[in-house]
Amino acid sequence: MAEEEVEKVESVLFKPIGYASTWFKFKNATPRQPSVSSLTRGFIKISTEIFSQPHHSLKNLNEFSHVWILFLFHKNGRAFTKTMVAPPRLGGARVGLFSTRSPHRPNPIGLTLAKIEKVEGDTVHLCGLDLLDGTPILDIKPYIPSYDYPQESEQTDLTTTESDDSTSATDDSVNTTNNSTCVGPPTSVSNPDWITLGGQEKTLDVAFTQDALSQIRKFSPDAEDPAYRLCFLKSPEEAQTAIEDILREDPRSIYRKMKGQDLLYFCVVDCMHVTTWFDECIKKCEVLRVMPYTTRKAMNEANKKQQWDNNLSKIEDKMSEVM
Ligand SMILES: C[S@@+](CC[C@H](N)C(=O)[O-])C[C@H]1O[C@@H](n2cnc3c(N)ncnc32)[C@H](O)[C@@H]1O
Repeated sequence: MAEEEVEKVESVLFKPIGYASTWFKFKNATPRQPSVSSLTRGFIKISTEIFSQPHHSLKNLNEFSHVWILFLFHKNGRAFTKTMVAPPRLGGARVGLFSTRSPHRPNPIGLTLAKIEKVEGDTVHLCGLDLLDGTPILDIKPYIPSYDYPQESEQTDLTTTESDDSTSATDDSVNTTNNSTCVGPPTSVSNPDWITLGGQEKTLDVAFTQDALSQIRKFSPDAEDPAYRLCFLKSPEEAQTAIEDILREDPRSIYRKMKGQDLLYFCVVDCMHVTTWFDECIKKCEVLRVMPYTTRKAMNEANKKQQWDNNLSKIEDKMSEVM
């Protein structure tokens, strides 16, 4: 249809079906894709502003293992989008926007495949999330391999595979192949090298100091001190693995890698504030300290107040000199 014949829609208004609850309060160290860690848990509660009986909308969802989550990048922070972007794994080189998963798009809609942990009433609990806490959710759809997984279209390909294996290509054996018992993506799926190779090259070794390891052991879902109580992770072992998963992928921005190589890197994992140091030369990062996020936040606020008080007394001193 010619463009001028299209019945145009000027704008589209959506109402979120709910909001994501995750531990990612900041973009810093939020996974770039759900595949970074299966431990990045969270949940979505369906809003009563959408359905008066929201729990009905989630009925039968627990019969599926995975769901597609469609969401709004509501914290993008800038209105304009660029036609070419520099994905982190390309180290500065730019490619066309629609060849990337950049959050900065004309319609800032994200797509994440997440694993269902459980469905409880009006809430679906998920793992493998790359969403900020409070992300508006536009839709949830079941992942159905026979719809969502590309099918081999050419029958000849299947028969060739069978005869290559020197097995007799009976109807049964072709059917087995047809039913996607094969492991890995179908041969018709192709990705550029900067996707397939780039990811493998850049993973880092993650080490922990003895202090950091014993600090992690104090965190658990039922810790007596609420500051040490994990909200999404289920044990100190999971806490350590989640930190490892997130750091292994090098969550630093390109800018940070170029300008702040010798600086300590801070991030939050569940209720833990993690201090890390990256060694660029040997592609290693070391976790130096793990403390409760609430404690660290209180320290920052106290420091800020102290700085404010210092500045105030400096101003008062100056004023008294003038008067
Ligand atoms: C590269 S995007 C990929 C998201 C999704 N899997 C996709 O492909 O559309 C993931 C990044 O988006 C950012 N992000 C997540 N939730 C966001 C939100 N609500 N608003 C803005 N940015 C968000 C985080 O920095 C995260 O690392």
